This record gives sequence, structure tokens and C-alpha cells, in this order.
Amino acid sequence: MHAQRASILVTGGAGYIGAPSVFYLLQQKYKVIVIDKKPLEGFSLKHLVTPQLQYYQADYGNRELIEKLCREHHVIACMHFAASIEVGASVLDPAAYYDNNVVKSIQLLDGLRAAGVKRIIFSSSCAVYGTPHWLPLTEDHPKNPVSPYGRTKYMIEMIIEDYARAYGLQYALLRYFNASGGIQEMNHYEQHEPESHLIPRVLRAALQGTPLTIFGTDYETHDGSCVRDYIHIQDLAAAHSKALEYLCAHESSVALNLGTGSGYSVLEIIAHVQEITGKKIEIVHAPRRAGDPAILVADPKKAHEILQWTCQFSTLRHILESAYKRESYEAPPSPSLSLSAAAFKRDSVR
Ligand code: UFG
Repeated sequence: MHAQRASILVTGGAGYIGAPSVFYLLQQKYKVIVIDKKPLEGFSLKHLVTPQLQYYQADYGNRELIEKLCREHHVIACMHFAASIEVGASVLDPAAYYDNNVVKSIQLLDGLRAAGVKRIIFSSSCAVYGTPHWLPLTEDHPKNPVSPYGRTKYMIEMIIEDYARAYGLQYALLRYFNASGGIQEMNHYEQHEPESHLIPRVLRAALQGTPLTIFGTDYETHDGSCVRDYIHIQDLAAAHSKALEYLCAHESSVALNLGTGSGYSVLEIIAHVQEITGKKIEIVHAPRRAGDPAILVADPKKAHEILQWTCQFSTLRHILESAYKRESYEAPPSPSLSLSAAAFKRDSVR
């Protein structure tokens, strides 16, 4: 066990990937300052709020507040999760995406700069690559995002790089592939409104007997449906802790893919969910969804080497079973730090 460590500011710390990352930081004895627009009731770690975990329901784009919090709590690094994340919605209302993602990130960066915070870990996305020229995707693949959402992520990456050159900021740009899975011990699951992501929708279709729409079965893939690289949120959270360690121990900055290196098609996900739930899913065929590349699979080698990190929770079976815990409305156990800590210890891939 380490002695009490420094403070980390976490934007979007109540979110799907933010909350488990906060949990890892607490386990490592960091003091964590969460800023999130959600009320405290929506935070799956609300029972752990203490002087070591402080929660501010506020807009992360408030430069003065960011500076004040960083000074008050002697923040040494920021994990920046807060963002709008719907590809489709970003096409319909790009102004909202450029404001919530890009404009506010600049405010955040300026608040950090004013307070002298020199490290940032940014939630980027495989959406920065656009349509792949080669697979699996390596970090040096050209960046040609095809949606306003993807462009906001790429713009923020470039802004962070410029701030790094000019102001000595150190960064880790973490490009997530398809974040998925749930954490029963934290009663923490994917919860977007409206829910557009495949896995929660397939589970809902199985459990509620509603039809599932498949967007395209005429892709150039082995079964005609889109292939994605699904990674469990606990593995993403662990990678954030490792990235923080890396930035604290080195002078350099990094951009890394966070994926498993394995892809599954939409039809394969449906087949696995049918097997796990024992329910038959009714399928409705629809045309391709705008902006969906046929295959997105990460080459995670660089992250393995640099962070000394590999996936421990991301077998498809564990992802689906852990997500199913909520979809089946099983009563979760009451969360506690020790119980949750056990859930975060696993030394081999299942
Ligand atoms: N899909 C369906 N039916 C559904 C929902 C999804 O067929 O009801 C398909 C999609 O067309 C896609 C695949 O399932 O082919 C996965 O879709 P998701 O919406 O679950 O995930 P995406 O791959 O579209 O999105 C992810 C991240 C985004 C990121 C994007 C980059 O969630 O944040 O990858 O392309 F921007």
C-alpha cells in the first residue's frame, strides 16, 4: 500500500469509463476530484465520497472553476473523460459537439495551464482514424475522421499536442475501441439515453422480446455484418492508471490504441447473446448506418509495451455476461470498497 498520494482531477468521473477509472485511482491512494454534470445520485461511487474523493456537479468547461479546484487540491494530472459521444447525434447537431467537446476542452486546458497542471490523459477514440487503410489499426494510421464526433476527438488531440509543444504539457491520448461490459460490484453499466450501442441493445432485445435492427449485412466481412473490437471498461480503467504512472515516470507523451486486437461481427454478438440468455432474438434488416466502417480492430502492441498493460476482462463472454447482469435486472449486491476491490483483481484473461 502506498501512502496518500497526489490529487487527480477527473472530468466525467461519473461516466461509463470515468467511474471505474476513479475507482482504480482510489485503490492506488490518489485523492480524486471528480467534476461531472450528473447529480451525485447518478455516481456509482457516491458511497465512497469522502475527503479522498470529492464530487463537484459542474460544467467542466468552466475555466475559473478548473483553475480553482486544481490550486486548492494541488492537482498533478487530469483525466479528461467528459464528452458527447453519439456519432449519429454529432451529424445532426455538430454545433453542440464542437461546443461540448472542443470549446470546453480548450477551457479545461486553459484552467489546467493557469494552475500549472502539466499532465493530461485524454479519452480519444478509434473514430479519429476514419475508414481504415490497413488492419489492425496502428497508431500511425492516417487520421481521417468521418463524423463530427470523430473530428472533435481529433481536434482535441491536435490542440493538446500544440499545448504540449508551447506550454510543456505532457499527455497520453488513449484511443478507445468499443467500450463495453458492466461491473456488478459497482452496480455500474452502460447507460446512455437514448442507447445506440450494440451490446445493450442486443441484450434488451433478448430480454424484452423486442426486435433488433441490424444496420447492414452487405459489408465486406466474413458474414456481411460490421466487425468491432470490444474492450471491457475495467481494462480501459486499468490502462488509465498505467498511463498516469507512465506520465509521472517519464518526460515523454504518448498516443495509444486501447483495444484487444480481436474483432467480432454484429451477427456473432447476436449469436453469443442468444446462447448466454437462451432467448431467440428477432432481427430486422436495415440499410447501413452512415459513417460505420466495415471493420475496426486495434493493434494494441504499443499500449502493451509502453504501459505494461494487457486486457484481463475483455473476453467476449465476460463482456456479455457482465453487461447482462443489469439487463436481466438482477439485484446488485450493496457496494463497498473491499467488495469492489476484489472485483478489480484478476490475473488472467477469462
Ligand atoms: N449496430 C446495429 N444495430 C444496433 C446498434 C448497432 O447493427 O442496434 C451495429 C452498428 O451499425 C455497428 C456495430 O453495431 O456496426 C457497433 O455499433 P455501436 O454503436 O455499438 O458502436 P460503434 O462502433 O458505432 O461506436 C464506437 C464507439 C463510438 C466511436 C465509434 C467509432 O461507441 O464512441 O465506435 O466508429 F465513435
